[in-house]
Amino acid sequence: MARSQWGSRLGFILAAAGSAIGLGAIWKFPYVASQNGGGAFLLIFIGFVFTLGIVMMMAEMALGRAAHSSAVGAFRKMGGKHWALVGYMGVLVGFLILSFYSVVGGWTIAYIAKSIGGEIISSDAKVLGGIFTGFISSPSEPLFYHAAFMALTVGVVLGGVQKGIENLSKFLMPALFVMMLVLIVRGLFLPGALDGVAYFLDPDFSKVSAKTIIDALGLAFFSLSLGMGAMITYGSYVEKDTSIPGSAAWVVLLTTVVCLLAGLMVLPAVFAFGFDPSAGPGLTFITMPAVFAKMVGGQLFAVVFFVLLLVAALTSAVSLMEVVTSFMIDEFHMRRVQAALLMASLMFVLGVPASLSLGIWSEYTLFGKGVFDLLDYATSNVLMPLGGVLLALLAGWKIWPQIEVQLAVGTRSSALWLPAMKLTCRYIAPALIGFVLVNGL
Ligand code: PHE
Repeated sequence: MARSQWGSRLGFILAAAGSAIGLGAIWKFPYVASQNGGGAFLLIFIGFVFTLGIVMMMAEMALGRAAHSSAVGAFRKMGGKHWALVGYMGVLVGFLILSFYSVVGGWTIAYIAKSIGGEIISSDAKVLGGIFTGFISSPSEPLFYHAAFMALTVGVVLGGVQKGIENLSKFLMPALFVMMLVLIVRGLFLPGALDGVAYFLDPDFSKVSAKTIIDALGLAFFSLSLGMGAMITYGSYVEKDTSIPGSAAWVVLLTTVVCLLAGLMVLPAVFAFGFDPSAGPGLTFITMPAVFAKMVGGQLFAVVFFVLLLVAALTSAVSLMEVVTSFMIDEFHMRRVQAALLMASLMFVLGVPASLSLGIWSEYTLFGKGVFDLLDYATSNVLMPLGGVLLALLAGWKIWPQIEVQLAVGTRSSALWLPAMKLTCRYIAPALIGFVLVNGL
C-alpha cells in the first residue's frame, strides 16, 4: 500500500500545529510561566523556541521525509541499528505522555459536562477551587472521563489520521484562535486585569533560577511536540516538493502565538479575581469559569471554551497515539485496529495511578513527586530534551547531506542559514541542552 500523504501544504501545517498546540500551550504554559515569575520565563521560553525549537522541528520533519518512515524505522534506516534505540525511546515517551495527557483530556470533557449542568458557573474563587480539587482528587469520576478521552483518541486514529485529522484541524484551529481572542478581550476589561498583563510581560530576572531554565526548555520541547518522533512521523507524510523550513516556521510561530494568547487569557483573570498566580495545574480550570460567570451568556462561552480545549488536546493526543500505533504496525506487523486498541488499553492502565496520585494515592512519591508529576517531569524535562540532543547529533554529524537535501526543497533563499543550522545541530544544541540537563539532574 502506498504511504499516506497530506492533502495539501496548509493541511500539513495545520495538522502539525494541531499536534503542537494543545494542553501544553493552553493549560501548562500559563501556570508554568506564573510559577516561574512571568515575563522572564516568557523571554527564555521564546529564546529556546526560536533557536533550538525551530532547528529541531526542521530536523525532525526532514528526517521523517528522507526516511519515509515513522520514528523507529527512520532512525534505523538513516542512522543504523544502534540509532533505532532513540526511536524506541521516542515511542516510550509517547506512551508515557499519553497516559497522563489523557487524564487531563478527561478533565476537559468533565468540564464540558459541568458547564452544561451549570455546576461551575460561579465567580467565587473558593467555590471553583473546591470543585476542581474535589473533582481531580476523587477516585472514580476522573477515571471515567480518562477512559472517554482515550476512547475518542482511538476513534480518530482508527478512522484514519490524514483525512480525519487534517480536515478537523483545518476547521478547528482557526476557531480556536477566534475564541481565544474573544475571551482575552473580555478578560482584559475585568477590574485589576492589567496587573496580570504586567506580571506576564514584565521580566523579573531575580526570579530566574536553574529551575526556570529547565522548565522553559522542557515546556518548549513539550509544546512543540519535539524530541519523541511525532514530527518525524508527520514529516514522513509530507510530499516531496513541500518546503519544510517554511512549514516548520509556521508551526513554531502559531504555537508561540497561542502560548502568548493563553497567558493573556488566563493571567489577567487570575489577578482580577485575586487567585494565587502560582496555583499550578488548576489555574485554567479554576479561573476561566470565574471569567465566564461575569460574562453575558457565560455558560455558553464556558461550554465552547472547554470544547475547544478538548479539541486542542485531542489533535495532540492523536499525534501521540499515531507515534505508538504506527510503531506497532511497522515493527510487529499488527493490524491498525489491534495496535491502537492494545496500546490505548495499556496507556489507560498507566493513567489510573497517575490520576489517583492527585488524590487518594498522593502519599506515594518518588523524588518527592507523585506518579502524575513524575511522568510529566521525566518526559518533558528529561527524555524529550535527551531525544533532541541525540537527533541533533545524528542530523549534524552522520546524515547532514540527506537532511540538507530535504531542507533545500522549495526554499528560494540562498540557504545562508543552512550552515548555521548545521552548526546548531553539531555543537550548539548538544552543548546547550546537555548543560541544562546535567544541571537539572
Ligand atoms: N505538544 C502537545 C501539547 O502541547 C503535546 C505533545 C507532545 C504532542 C509530544 C505530541 C508529542 O499539548
